[in-house]
Amino acid sequence: MKQLTSKELRDFYLKFFESHNHAIIPSSSIVPENDPTVLFTTAGMHPLVPYLLGESHPAGNRLCDVQKCIRTSDIDEVGDNSHLTFFEMLGNWSLGDYFKKEAISMSYEFLTSPDYLNIPADKLYFTCFAGDETAPKDEESYNIWRSLGVPEDHLFYLPKENNFWILGSGIGPCGPDTEMFYDTGKPACGADCSPACDCGKYLEIWNDVFMEYYRAEDGTLTKLKQQNVDTGMGLERTITVLNSYESVYDSDVFQNLKEKIEELSGKNYEENKESFRIIMDHVRTSTFILGDDHGITPSNIGAGYVLRRLIRRAIRHLRKLGLMEDALVKLSQVVIDDYQSVYHELSKNKEFIFAELEKEGIKFGKTIKDGEKLFYKVIKHLDGDTISGEDAFKLFDTFGFPLEMTEELAKENGLKVDTLGFEEKFKEHQEKSRTIDAGSFKGGLADSSYESTKYHTLAHLMLAALQHMYGPDIIQKGCNITSERIRFDFNLNHKMSDEEKAELTKIVNEKIKEGIPVTMEEMPYEEAKKQGAHGTFEDRYGSIVKVYSIGDFSKEICGGPHVSNTSELGTFKITKEESSSAGVRRIKGVLENIQND
Ligand code: SER
Repeated sequence: MKQLTSKELRDFYLKFFESHNHAIIPSSSIVPENDPTVLFTTAGMHPLVPYLLGESHPAGNRLCDVQKCIRTSDIDEVGDNSHLTFFEMLGNWSLGDYFKKEAISMSYEFLTSPDYLNIPADKLYFTCFAGDETAPKDEESYNIWRSLGVPEDHLFYLPKENNFWILGSGIGPCGPDTEMFYDTGKPACGADCSPACDCGKYLEIWNDVFMEYYRAEDGTLTKLKQQNVDTGMGLERTITVLNSYESVYDSDVFQNLKEKIEELSGKNYEENKESFRIIMDHVRTSTFILGDDHGITPSNIGAGYVLRRLIRRAIRHLRKLGLMEDALVKLSQVVIDDYQSVYHELSKNKEFIFAELEKEGIKFGKTIKDGEKLFYKVIKHLDGDTISGEDAFKLFDTFGFPLEMTEELAKENGLKVDTLGFEEKFKEHQEKSRTIDAGSFKGGLADSSYESTKYHTLAHLMLAALQHMYGPDIIQKGCNITSERIRFDFNLNHKMSDEEKAELTKIVNEKIKEGIPVTMEEMPYEEAKKQGAHGTFEDRYGSIVKVYSIGDFSKEICGGPHVSNTSELGTFKITKEESSSAGVRRIKGVLENIQND
């Protein structure tokens, strides 16, 4: 089989499903708006949860896309052959349209057709759900594979842990799946060798989930009002498997980065695989997080904390190769060049990406200095030859000094580190940050309570008012809503003066007082742009979009929901105006429930 590139796979996939009447929708944000339990979008279906639950999607009920995903649970494994923190997931969906028969037939056609992946049928193996007390055995899928000519010895029934898919939170739309495996040709590891074992003979390339249940927090399954299909094919992984590469890092998506690191460091990949891989993965993921329009910046909590870890670990490994922090921007440029034709937001946010990488690089340089000082202070008073987990965590938590660095310094000084103690402290911290993060999402976009809805409409008024004040180049850089307040980020290069704040408040409150109806119209994206509608997530809309108008004052592409008249909002008050990041201001505001007369 000829070598398959990532571009070919993306293009083939979308073309195939388009030819089967699927609307191609753009990738959604890397930050999920419907799931408060995680920091990042972990699967292609994540942004589609409301539609899998029955809401109508403006682009129709047959969709396909390539979704940016981040999974960080195995962040420490990056450096081996297979782990990545960022990946692209190809997916096709039926939202209450076709079900098992069509989904499986299309999957099989895409995999085996000479016009598409052209995989020899005898290299393919399939698994189906074996059934349990909560959901029946999926004989239907099994029989569909059989009807397509798949022999019995290429089909396996596997239990829930293998063939039932649900988001990591364990709550939401879910169902049995059927998975597709590629036989690498390695000998079977034993008589029981099957796609369930991880000996490396069978490698998964695609997953068709038949989402017909909803799993509640207590574990009970209820039938959804519609039968959906959710499929997922990891782009990098599939390229690796089908080209028989040893590692995901051999795929073409890393080629330019690899060459750039070799050029800058004068070292070669083969002899420095671990550092190269960590740098390539972490720079790529950081570039995508920073380039995502959400304005996430390195911090000590939530998604910002993950970003900080990625950047700092990349720097550590750059240093191992003899490079300094300034290499980050050069490498990020390669990522942007490689991906900008697919993800336009990267080039749009380039300045922001570079500025944040640079800032974090400088901070970390200082951290390393301060951390080393504290390290020597700690060991001066050390009783015995082991640095406690608490001290190692303190170095990490207060200074962002990575454990590996403490370990390295310890080794140089003939000491050990209580890494288990560190892990315990680290887990405690992670749980705390997850809780805080979930809290900050609670009542956010996932919440369509009336109070939050008012704030959604307020966001539109604020953007229009800011554009009225500062001109049409003002764009929304982030927005976080709870039922009690709004946090709104936008681009502006100076601190707002008291007069400016008063003017914003005045314009917004005038528009509230005018009692303007909020109207919604669905239209093609091109038409919305022609009508001058603003869109915060320009690169993510499908071909049909919802446009919300507030009289002549505001017109935005938005998923909603909104109140029906601005008079419902009460009175707007700014509680704080501050800097969010370079060139981005953040306004915090509330709506007070004073009736306007
Ligand atoms: N949700 C499934 C997965 O992530 C299929 O898209 O594997």
